[in-house]
Amino acid sequence: MPSPSTVLVTGGAGYIGSHTAKELARAGYRVVSYDNLSRGHRWAVKWGPLEEGDLLDQDRLRQVLAAHNVDAVLHFAAFAEVGESMREPELYFRNNVAGSLSLLEAMHHSGVRRIVFSSTCALYGVPETVPITEDVPKAPANPYGESKLMVEKMLQWEGACRALQWTALRYFNAAGCDAEGDTGESHSPESHLIPSLLEAALGKRPACPIFGSDYPTPDGTCIRDYIHVTDLADAHVRALRHLENGGASMALNLGTGDGYSVNQILAAAEKVAGRPIPIERQGRRPGDPPKLVAAPQRAFATLGWKPSHSSIDNILETAWRWAAQRSASNA
Ligand code: UFG
Repeated sequence: MPSPSTVLVTGGAGYIGSHTAKELARAGYRVVSYDNLSRGHRWAVKWGPLEEGDLLDQDRLRQVLAAHNVDAVLHFAAFAEVGESMREPELYFRNNVAGSLSLLEAMHHSGVRRIVFSSTCALYGVPETVPITEDVPKAPANPYGESKLMVEKMLQWEGACRALQWTALRYFNAAGCDAEGDTGESHSPESHLIPSLLEAALGKRPACPIFGSDYPTPDGTCIRDYIHVTDLADAHVRALRHLENGGASMALNLGTGDGYSVNQILAAAEKVAGRPIPIERQGRRPGDPPKLVAAPQRAFATLGWKPSHSSIDNILETAWRWAAQRSASNA
């Protein structure tokens, strides 16, 4: 029997990284998480060892790649707050871009030739056409989206010059939590819609702001494509297999192709919480595009992937169970 492949998961203590670590372990991979714990959580690392370290510490990266005989990297470690990136762009270029460069250098030095990269629909900016295909012009509207686009460009050149095999997975709105409650979403402060609504439902905050009611959408609130984090995790495992089987390097949208408005999410959250949620209607949040919905057909065809956990009810149910569990254990 050949020994299982070892995968380094950067950002393995974070939201999407930890869910993917679980899925990798389930698929038979050996998982090593690499995280500086600046935003991740030690409790989220359950499916293999945690190697503490920073992406910018290349000696440490090289040491970890060699010590664990790493075969491939799944690269999640990054800052991911759009608003923060507008206030502190340097933070995003240093951590997300320079950090990824350091990782790519360490991989090249160590002979690791496969990477699946955590990218984002934020690199499309305000798209001219929806649903969004991978080939529409890229026009990031904030340093966060720009930082991810810059890394995608580095991957293309590393592919051309170094024969690196890569996949960039452009997530739409990651949502929901592990159905078994082994890991979940925990940001501080929380800025995303679903966990913010559930915090308000649990009395952890006085009210959830609802940003904008005058968008050119049927009910005036923004439309997003919510994709369950377990479906994202599954797509990462498939993307890795695709590369192992000699598949072509490319960028793929990960979304459902269906859009839901903020008001629809509010209604679904109230249903799962079984109570009215206190909200505060506010003006538009700067930089929010009215409608972002994926055309995910390329991922379907390339990875044989289809979302199976991403109904709005399942997203809300798993997020609610996790929020209630966290709230009870922190009470
Ligand atoms: N919203 C509210 N109230 C809140 C939080 C959000 O009304 O308290 C609204 C937003 O205005 C937006 C929608 O809910 O219309 C979704 O907002 P999120 O903050 O949950 O998610 P975003 O769509 O802003 O962000 C997501 C990812 C980012 C990514 C971005 C691309 O989380 O990483 O999509 O646009 F960059």
